[in-house]
Amino acid sequence: MERTSTSMLLAAAAVRQARRDGDAAVQANARLARACLRGCGAPGRRLLFALDHAPGRWLLAALEAAYLPGIGAHYAWRKRHIRRWALQACADGARQVVVLGAGFDGLALALLAQAPELRAFEIERERAVAIKRAALREIGAEDPRLSLIAADLAHTPAAMALRAAPGFDPAAKTVVIAEGVLMYLSPEELQRLLRGLAATLADARLIATAMALRADATPGFARQRPWVQRWLRRAGEPFRWGASRACLPALLHAADVRLERVADPQAPADPDPSPGEWVFAGSLLRAPAP
Ligand SMILES: C[S@@+](CC[C@H](N)C(=O)[O-])C[C@H]1O[C@@H](n2cnc3c(N)ncnc32)[C@H](O)[C@@H]1O
Repeated sequence: MERTSTSMLLAAAAVRQARRDGDAAVQANARLARACLRGCGAPGRRLLFALDHAPGRWLLAALEAAYLPGIGAHYAWRKRHIRRWALQACADGARQVVVLGAGFDGLALALLAQAPELRAFEIERERAVAIKRAALREIGAEDPRLSLIAADLAHTPAAMALRAAPGFDPAAKTVVIAEGVLMYLSPEELQRLLRGLAATLADARLIATAMALRADATPGFARQRPWVQRWLRRAGEPFRWGASRACLPALLHAADVRLERVADPQAPADPDPSPGEWVFAGSLLRAPAP
């Protein structure tokens, strides 16, 4: 039986957000999310049906409250930060964007729309890439500057996959984005991935997320119910690691990343509606090839 995946839940959250937020980028993201959900078989179509009917939306809101209160608003919060920082990196001269585990998200397209010189490379699992390719075709949003690369980040060195992609330039100033994906890799896979990118890219910033640790030292959101972990395991997407705020710099440094900023989940003007995931930015430290 086909299962609902976290990338489908993110796409559903994008569609929900677009009902309240008329921002052009949010609307474009939702259009892509809808087309991707249509390509996700029965679970995607069920989600879309629920999103398009009031009782379905009520049910989805009740499920969110029962599993992880505030997660939809947390996604919007994290995407706001990542989009702002990524736009800043482009304004600061980035010529390439690499999005790891992009899922059905439209950030790369949004950045391409703002920066005519930019090229974008997304690395995702094969099935999600096939669905996204078809969705981009369906909504007429294909862009020759966007390359979708099918690869499993746990097994294929990202640097190798990128080098094989036409137009990729390791010397170009690059922003690497890893939103909601690093926690699915083992700590060893994480180190290999980031160190490989640091050794390949001459000048790169990293914008990414990492799970925090809960009171019981397991990675996860502060308000997640016990059945969330079970659901993630059944979906084949358990959180494999997390870090306290104090340990995050050293953990990243061991992977050749210098941590430079972390979004404040308690910022009085814009607090994280469901804390438990660090949104951070830093630089990849050029290192000898592993
Ligand atoms: C929670 S979704 C996040 C999607 C998107 N980054 C966002 O934040 O909207 C996680 C994504 O990471 C991808 N992913 C997880 N493990 C991966 C791996 N080993 N290789 C490639 N992609 C992976 C999944 O397929 C999924 O699309």
